[in-house]
Parts: sequence; C-alpha cells; structure tokens
Amino acid sequence: MKLSKRIENLQPYLFVEINKKIAEKRAKGEDIVSFAIGDPDIPTPPHIIDRLCQAAQDPANHRYPETVGLSQLRQAIVGWYDRRFGVPLDADREVLPLIGSKEGIAHIALCFIDHGDIALVPDPAYPVYSISTILAGGKAYYMPIIEENDFLPDLDAIPAHIIKRAKLIWISYPNNPTSATTDLNYFNRIVEFAHQHNLAVCHDGPYSEVAFDGYQPVSFMQADGAREVGVEFHSLSKSYNMTGWRIGMVVGNAEMIDALKRVKSNLDSGIPQAIQYAAIEALTASQDCIQEHNAIYQRRRDLIIKVLNSIGLEAKPPKAGLYIWAKVPEGYTSVDLATDLLEEIGVVVIPGVGYGKNGEGYVRLSLTIPDAELARGLSRLAGWHNIRNKHKATK
Ligand SMILES: Cc1ncc(COP(=O)(O)O)c(C=O)c1O
Repeated sequence: MKLSKRIENLQPYLFVEINKKIAEKRAKGEDIVSFAIGDPDIPTPPHIIDRLCQAAQDPANHRYPETVGLSQLRQAIVGWYDRRFGVPLDADREVLPLIGSKEGIAHIALCFIDHGDIALVPDPAYPVYSISTILAGGKAYYMPIIEENDFLPDLDAIPAHIIKRAKLIWISYPNNPTSATTDLNYFNRIVEFAHQHNLAVCHDGPYSEVAFDGYQPVSFMQADGAREVGVEFHSLSKSYNMTGWRIGMVVGNAEMIDALKRVKSNLDSGIPQAIQYAAIEALTASQDCIQEHNAIYQRRRDLIIKVLNSIGLEAKPPKAGLYIWAKVPEGYTSVDLATDLLEEIGVVVIPGVGYGKNGEGYVRLSLTIPDAELARGLSRLAGWHNIRNKHKATK
C-alpha cells in the first residue's frame, strides 16, 4: 500500500494528540482537569432539541438532503444576519449551509488553490486554514498576529512577490486562539486590500455571539463592499452549543458560494434535515440563551484571569471568544509549561505554539469547562508553584 505524499506529510490534528494524552492519563485513574478544546459544556437549549426530535420523527427527513440545504434554513440564516448585523443576503445566491463550518473552511481551498498557489494565513490560527491549503497542493504564507499589532495581520509587511501569487486571505475575529477582536475599520481595510490585489477573503466568525461586558462583535459582511470580495464562515456550534450536531454556514460573495456548492455537491450529501430544522429553531426563536451562556462564560473568565495573574501567567480578560490567551512565565516555552501543568497538577492547557510559531510564549485556556471541574482546576493552579522561576530566584 502506498499512501499519498499529502497524507504522509500530514501531521495529526492538534486536538487528537492532546485528547489521546488525556485519555491515557484518565485510563490510569488520574484526575485530569482540561482547559483544552473549545467545546461548550452547556447542553444545546431544550427548545432546539425538541424541534430536532420532532423533525427526526418525520419520514420526509429520513432521506438524502439537498447540498444547498432547506430553503427555510437559508431564509432563517438571511433573517438572522439581517436582525443581528443589518446585512441583507440573497438566500439562493449568497448563503450555503455547511456540515459544521470546519467542513466548508476545509473545502473552500479546493475552489481557489492550485499547485503552488498561496493562501495568506494568520499565525497563530485555527489550524484548518493552512492544512486545507496544503492538502489542496498550495502553500500557506503566515502573517504574524502579535500583541504589538493588536493581533491583526500587518498587511503592509507582506512581500510583493507573495501577494502576487496569493489567491486567498484568511482572517478571523473574535479570534481563536488569541480572543482578539477588531472593528469595521480593519475589515474595510481588508476589502480595499483584496480589491487592490485581486484576492478572495475568507473571514471566519464562529465566535461573534460569545461576547462579554455588553460588547457586540461586528461581522465582516458589514464592511463596505465585503460581498464583492469575500465570504464569512459562521457556525451554530459556539452560539447555541451545537458542536455535536455539525451545522454552520457560509455567506457572502455569490461566485465563491457557487464554487463551494460545486465542490460540495460532488463530495457530500448535505446536512441531515432534522438537524437543519433544529438550526432553523435556533436562529429564529428567542436569542435569550446566548446572553445566559455568555453570563456563565464571563463569570468563568473572571475567575480564571484572577488565578492566572496571581501565579505569574499574565492574561487580559478577553472581550469575546471562548479563550484566555495567557503569557507563559519566563523560563518556560509554551510546551514546557503545558507539560509541567499536566504532569505536576493534572491540568491541561494548550501550548500556543500548536497554533503556529507566533503562538510561542502563550498558552490557551478554554472557558468551556464545567463549574465543578473549573473549581478543581483553579484550586490546583492557585497552589502551583512556578518552579523554574523559584529556582532562578533562589540561585
Ligand atoms: C476559529 C474556528 N473556526 C471554525 C471552527 C469550527 O467550528 P464548527 O466546525 O464546529 O462549526 C472552530 C472550532 O473550534 C474555530 O475555533
């Protein structure tokens, strides 16, 4: 058997390795507290599950779904974008439901990237932007996102010969892993840059509804002329605790949506219709659950920040997103710190370098940790002694 080069060169997905390690330790009876993956611990709200169960009973929903999704779902997405962001969309040309946004994010590379083409990808970032580029035969050019630049790519720093070969630019705010946010000025600048260099923009915005202290993130689609150059990926995973149901959407530029539709209609057979009805319920019913979830995350955010800062892991409270991006203390790499926390106190955090080399110097902690586990994790962290710094101080 001869595997393809693309598979031979493919590293295991970040969380597969971390989950394996956690499972091994738990199998040995160790009590592991995980701040790892951003997978809401709060269940999907009951009204959404009720609609799903009802739809599952209907034989009409037992058959192959259409790639483009139910018309009612596309209309529900249009209504939601209009109410939430004041962005009007054409349900047939500018909206495409996805089997979770990760699926669409992965497949869109096939619409743009030929052998040797470049996608501009932030570093650190959600790994799928670069992995899908590489699987399509292209190359990722990494745009550093660092604190000094408010975790925004510096567009002027991208070399001209790179921009010439680039076809796509990826951005994502509220950001994973840094939880940085941005505003319409930056999105307008991205649109201008895309026009100037004939680039397609992919904005990934699954965290737009997870926000704190009254802050309301903006959508890339609100930028002037956004639909002329780009699309926005979105998801019901984080807004409505629906990660397990696998449903998301992409909206915006009709040509990009059509290209993705062509790929998807050849590769997959759509989203189970009962799940589409659950999504319609989520998008059209009362949105009170979002504020209720955000209040829980905000309380956890504040508890975690307080403990991290008290043990020398400097962190600022994020305005949005599900993550805390904490600086590692002097004397540690992000992998050292994550390893010590796991081995010494059974606490899992993600080393920032897992998201790209500019993630070095940070670890990521997720707010999606049940309260009892959070309390155990925080008490262990609060009692943890920053051993390397202590050694240095006593030398
Ligand atoms: C930035 C970002 N984009 C997309 C996704 C994928 O979400 P889903 O496939 O559940 O819609 C995630 C999941 O963690 C994410 O962090």
